[in-house]
Amino acid sequence: MKLAGSMAEARAMAQGRVGLVPTMGFFHEGHLSLMERSASECDRTMVTLYVNPLQFEDPADLARYPVDHERDLELAAAAGVDVMVIPDPAEMFLEAPLTGVSVAGIGDRLEGAYRPGHMDGVATAVTKLFAGLQPDRAYFGRKDAQQLAMVSRLVHDLGFPTEVVGCPLVREADGLALSSRNVLLGAYREEARALSRGLLEAARLFEDGERSAAAVEGAVRNALPPGALDYAEACTAAAMEPVDRLEGEVVLAAAARFGAVRIIDNVRFTVDGRGAAADRGVWLDRPSVLYDADPAGADPAGGR
Ligand code: PAF
Repeated sequence: MKLAGSMAEARAMAQGRVGLVPTMGFFHEGHLSLMERSASECDRTMVTLYVNPLQFEDPADLARYPVDHERDLELAAAAGVDVMVIPDPAEMFLEAPLTGVSVAGIGDRLEGAYRPGHMDGVATAVTKLFAGLQPDRAYFGRKDAQQLAMVSRLVHDLGFPTEVVGCPLVREADGLALSSRNVLLGAYREEARALSRGLLEAARLFEDGERSAAAVEGAVRNALPPGALDYAEACTAAAMEPVDRLEGEVVLAAAARFGAVRIIDNVRFTVDGRGAAADRGVWLDRPSVLYDADPAGADPAGGR
């Protein structure tokens, strides 16, 4: 695996069909599955590792975001990555840019409403990476369903010649959706399982024939301790618009806070001419590589 310190350097290493996995590092099996998928489908797989300050509305959240480049490089090399791009912050957003990208509607709701500036920060960073690296394909996990919907629309609207590939959400063995932030949960780890428990209960209701959005949203709300839930909302997978009935491609997206850590998760429902299916993601059958590391800046008590 080669290292690139700028996008120009990375572009010079491109060859054939280029697959890009944009990340903020501290890899887990969700990231690694995107890298492996790209490596199996593309001639060159590039991973960007950049903790994008534009998408952190809370400086304390940015400060505690786990970082371990050495560990990330080892994991990425083993996953078949060809080029690891760690851009110099000066090339990215050391200074706040005067130009920003926002995707109206998709970027305003849910995460956009609860984390002002977050979705625009993601859209601006992804646009910059796509412009600088010009990948043929870009791989995103379905755990960030709203991000996936937003990036797909951004690519369509701005005409990037990049195919956006959505990949399965990966869960830890106990159901918690994998996120680099899970290492920060500390004493809240057990309580945080309530979010996936609620979503999995919603998927069970759906498979038993429930088609009311309010009913599946209620299943998530009921699973959570008082005050923990930010939102549980059924919305269209492409535009993230709220729905009343579970028809077509619907994402039941949810976010909750446990101590100082906020996590998101979702399940996906499809109802079409061929029938009905719930996509809960895939499960790890072993402890995540997340726990092999001691993240710099992690608060073992999760703020408790
Ligand atoms: O999903 C992430 O890690 C980030 O939002 C991304 C896509 C790398 C943009 O900074």
